[in-house]
This record gives sequence, C-alpha cells and structure tokens, in this order.
Amino acid sequence: MEVIRTLALSGSLREASYNTAAIEVMQVLFPDNIEIDICSIGDLPLFNPDREGERIPSLDKLVQALRNSDGLIIASPEYAHGVSGPMKNALDWLISGVDFPDKLIMFINTSPRASHAQESLREILKTMSGIVVEEASVSIPLLSTDLNVSGIVKNIKISNALMTGLKKFGAEIERQKLNKHVN
Ligand SMILES: Cc1cc2nc3c(=O)[nH]c(=O)nc-3n(C[C@H](O)[C@H](O)[C@H](O)COP(=O)(O)O)c2cc1C
Repeated sequence: MEVIRTLALSGSLREASYNTAAIEVMQVLFPDNIEIDICSIGDLPLFNPDREGERIPSLDKLVQALRNSDGLIIASPEYAHGVSGPMKNALDWLISGVDFPDKLIMFINTSPRASHAQESLREILKTMSGIVVEEASVSIPLLSTDLNVSGIVKNIKISNALMTGLKKFGAEIERQKLNKHVN
C-alpha cells in the first residue's frame, strides 16, 4: 500500500486551539496509509513581497513540507467574520511558489456557525489554484465544548467524522494519482 503524505496547518496560535486539536487528533488516529505532518505557521514573518526569494528558515520548512505532501489539510478559525491572520499570512507566502497549484485540500471547520471565513478561504484557495475536496471536508462542533485531543478521540461522533473525512481525502488523492499515471 502506497503511503499518502499530507501536510496539516492550523490557523490558530492559541495553546488550547480546537483547530490545532482537530488536526492532532487525526495524527493520533490516522489510517495506516496516511501520514500527517503538522507544520506551525506562527513563526513566519509578516508577508512582504520584497522578501520573496530570501532564505527564511520557517518559510523554507513550510515550502518543503508542502512540496513533500500529496494533500493539504487546513483547519482555521474565524475572527471578525474574516480568515485568521496567521493563515492568510501563510497562504500569502505560498502564492508565488510552484507547489500550491493543483494541491488537493481537505477543510476542517471546528465552528459550524463560522461561515464567512470558510467562504473567504475557499475563494483564496481557488484563486491560488488549490482544489478543495468537498466530500472530504468536515464541519465538527468543537466550539465551547472544552474538548482537548484526548476528549475528541473519545468522542466517537466527532472522531469518526474526522476519520471518515480523512479516508475520503486519501481515496481522492489515490484516485488523482492513478489518473496521472493513466494519462
Ligand atoms: C477576537 C475574536 C473574534 C472572533 N470572531 C468570530 C467571528 O466573527 N465568528 C465566529 O464564528 N467566531 C469568532 N470568534 C470565535 C473563534 O473563532 C473561536 O474562539 C475559535 O474556537 C478559535 O479557534 P481556536 O479554538 O482554534 O483557537 C472570535 C474569537 C476571537 C478571539
């Protein structure tokens, strides 16, 4: 069985972040054939096009992780109806690179009431030529639950939703890889 490599990014820098917890849960429960690399985006400098091409260790790490991945998992909160600053900043750094276009993306929304940021993120990702795999994307009601990683793992409904989404994501990545071999 070929291993599928995914990169997961959380748009929250909060210690007890639900979004970070959601991707950490997937790392705990991942199916045998799917690897999840979590990369922090909190150390990236503020995006400045003048600095593109500079050696920035945190950015080099992110770009390398993206390059090594077959798919990207994004879990990001909404602030004032907008995309979180850290997530927008990270995506801005990736706009000009060659690794983002055609990347398959699984979306995790940990707050089903937060629709504006999700819509805006979708538009940004589409503009960057990423491909959101809708059937793999999940909305899980973590907001105000106080659940941490082990709490989410024990919550069968929520952990099943994450795993089902991840398996569908893996299946779509495999399908696209097969298509590329055939064509
Ligand atoms: C300053 C601030 C603004 C927020 N604005 C919104 C908002 O517009 N819509 C919303 O649904 N939630 C909003 N929230 C709630 C966050 O999205 C929520 O706390 C989320 O869990 C944060 O993600 P995290 O748990 O991964 O850190 C806001 C939170 C903060 C601190």
